[in-house]
Amino acid sequence: MISDTNAVLFRIFFFLCLFSLAAAQQPYVGKSTTDCSVSDNSTSVLGYSCNGLNKTCLSYVTFRSKPPFSTVSSISSLFSVDSSLVSSLNNAATTSTSFPSGQQVIIPVTCSCSGSYSQANLNYTIQQNDSYFFIANDTLQGLSTCQALEKQNNVSSQSLFPGMRIVVPIRCACPTAKQVNEDGVNYLMSYTVVFGDTVDIISQRFGVETNKTLIANQMSFENAGVFPYTTILIPLENPPSQVNSLTPPPPPPPAQSVSPPLKSKKTWVYVLAGVLGGALVLSVIAAAIFCLVKRKPKTQEETRNFDSFTAKKPPKSDQDQESEFDPLDGLSGMVVDTLKVYKFNELRSATSDFTSSSSIGGSGYIGKINGDGAMIKKIEGNASEEINLLSKLNHFNIIRLSGFCFHEGDWYLVYEHASNGSLSDWIHSKSLLSSTQRLQIALDIATGLNYLHNFADPPYVHRDLNSGNVFLDYEFRAKIGNLGLAKSTGEGEGYVLTRHVEGTRGYLAPEYLEHGLVSTKLDVYAFGVLLSEIVTGKDVSELKKEIEEGDAMEELLVRGRFLPEGLVSFVVRLVDDCLKRDHLDRPSMDEIVLSLSKILTASKSWESSY
Ligand SMILES: *[C@@H]1O[C@H](CO)[C@@H](O)[C@H](O)[C@H]1NC(C)=O
Ligand SMILES: *[C@@H]1O[C@H](CO)[C@@H](O)[C@H](O)[C@H]1NC(C)=O
Ligand SMILES: *[C@@H]1O[C@H](CO)[C@@H](O)[C@H](O)[C@H]1NC(C)=O
Ligand SMILES: *[C@@H]1O[C@H](CO)[C@@H](O)[C@H](O)[C@H]1NC(C)=O
Ligand SMILES: *[C@@H]1O[C@H](CO)[C@@H](O)[C@H](O)[C@H]1NC(C)=O
Ligand SMILES: *[C@@H]1O[C@H](CO)[C@@H](O)[C@H](O)[C@H]1NC(C)=O
Ligand SMILES: *[C@@H]1O[C@H](CO)[C@@H](O)[C@H](O)[C@H]1NC(C)=O
Repeated sequence: MISDTNAVLFRIFFFLCLFSLAAAQQPYVGKSTTDCSVSDNSTSVLGYSCNGLNKTCLSYVTFRSKPPFSTVSSISSLFSVDSSLVSSLNNAATTSTSFPSGQQVIIPVTCSCSGSYSQANLNYTIQQNDSYFFIANDTLQGLSTCQALEKQNNVSSQSLFPGMRIVVPIRCACPTAKQVNEDGVNYLMSYTVVFGDTVDIISQRFGVETNKTLIANQMSFENAGVFPYTTILIPLENPPSQVNSLTPPPPPPPAQSVSPPLKSKKTWVYVLAGVLGGALVLSVIAAAIFCLVKRKPKTQEETRNFDSFTAKKPPKSDQDQESEFDPLDGLSGMVVDTLKVYKFNELRSATSDFTSSSSIGGSGYIGKINGDGAMIKKIEGNASEEINLLSKLNHFNIIRLSGFCFHEGDWYLVYEHASNGSLSDWIHSKSLLSSTQRLQIALDIATGLNYLHNFADPPYVHRDLNSGNVFLDYEFRAKIGNLGLAKSTGEGEGYVLTRHVEGTRGYLAPEYLEHGLVSTKLDVYAFGVLLSEIVTGKDVSELKKEIEEGDAMEELLVRGRFLPEGLVSFVVRLVDDCLKRDHLDRPSMDEIVLSLSKILTASKSWESSY
């Protein structure tokens, strides 16, 4: 009771504070920018109002690299800023450095008052088929609005013609006296919202308290929705740096992360067996895994992944190759800052000179670097795509890339080591994984994919999800690896077409095999296949055979006894949904995460009451 009252009081207090500050801050523009006929001057549609302590200030805007604006120089000239400022702020090597499409670029602008609005003015030449809306939304990603453009130029959108020069007011603001004096805010950054962003995610990315961002935009916890192609102001104490802004916060592992101790009769059996047979069992399992891992050459899978690195081998020079050719050229600047660049000697000693005893098949090796386990993969060809992608991802359920090494034309990627190896080595035996562990693994995989689909920027499709590409850590929590085939679907339609169908037999969705259509639903299909393997303990070819012989999925599950019987129908329904032939009928990954969390909770309570 008391804490409830406190919470209510706190809320009221918070809103009172919010209210008293409201007039001094800038309202969030919301959705009104999509309708050019609305010119509601109670919001900031026409621009942020000129209420800063200083009439002119340095501020920052974010922009996502997108052709034709994907190099330092093209972006700098669009915003009429000095390209050396842009390259240093974004850790770009030269002004011709090109950013991967969708990468966030931070641009410094001078913000000043123009009438009652604060803005940074750009000169812009009208292109074929431009409209105010297109310039504001598509070209500038929400950094201006059609309403502001029309007001600024006093010409209607219909009267624009190619070659005409107009002034584009970029939305920016200077901190108010209160922000400067009481909150220590020195800069306001106009951040362009993309899909998957929330005020929380954006704030954390720049190390700002969420409530500060909410207040700066006159938003509240209850009303914190943000829309793509609009701007939100981020109150910053220090100039933004690309390093902290591009490393998304590690999303907390799902609530189910700690497996609750089992309080049941069965537990005692486990404990007893554990105490008595622990050492024996462990060594047997270890030996078994060792043999399994060693016996199963992963060459096929590995080479398949490497095929996708189509870039040429870097040229070798006679003398010191590493100084002649800068392999870091293909990497985004921020990668070099967040990842460790290993010396080849470190890797050599970690893997006893890449001897077979540390090999895990193919070109994978296990070793110890500074006391920590690491998985090392050698890649002949261009690995910069995989490095750039993995360096942007930070999620408990996705294998972390800790660094890399470039030596004599080959890349060596160093990943975190998931000590229990790949899932495929574990799913077949009932005694190795309990039903709760199986469902937790499925939920982990779904959570990792959900991050790739809905929170990575731009979104990615893994394209090669299978039991060999999922790794288990010491607590049997799953991590998705081998992202060598991952493909961005960009920010547009949510799908791309490819003529190059790659992946693993049995996991490929019909629309991909037939039309090369790549969307997140491709991973949903593969997840459905993988989930059915996890809950039946049979691999995809076995399953296919038994189903062709007329066994229903449901029977297989009941017979297999991998799951409590009461959960079978829920899991079967989920699998069926994921395997729907029409990709549009399949659920999205966030829906799957939700269903699986419910099933897992039920499984835990079943297990503890057993
Ligand atoms: C909003 O616009 C109206 C008329 O266009 C004007 O009278 C009013 O002062 C404006 N309000 C603000 C806050 O600028
Ligand atoms: C835009 O053009 C005007 C007139 O040509 C010029 O005075 C101004 O400096 C230009 N602004 C920028 C930011 O280049
Ligand atoms: C402009 O629009 C016309 C028709 O509306 C189209 O044919 C043309 O390809 C477009 N041009 C560009 C550059 O998009
Ligand atoms: C705004 O621009 C984006 C990116 O080009 C585009 O995908 C989106 O459809 C545009 N919004 C509207 C309402 O046209
Ligand atoms: C905008 O243009 C119209 C005529 O085209 C003119 O009457 C009006 O004064 C102009 N307004 C401003 C603010 O320049
Ligand atoms: C405001 O202007 C003063 C004097 O030019 C400067 O020292 C201060 O840093 C400025 N403050 C902000 C927040 O831009
Ligand atoms: C924001 O929340 C944190 C704790 O979550 C609190 O310490 C801080 O005072 C709050 N700031 C404002 C401006 O309300």
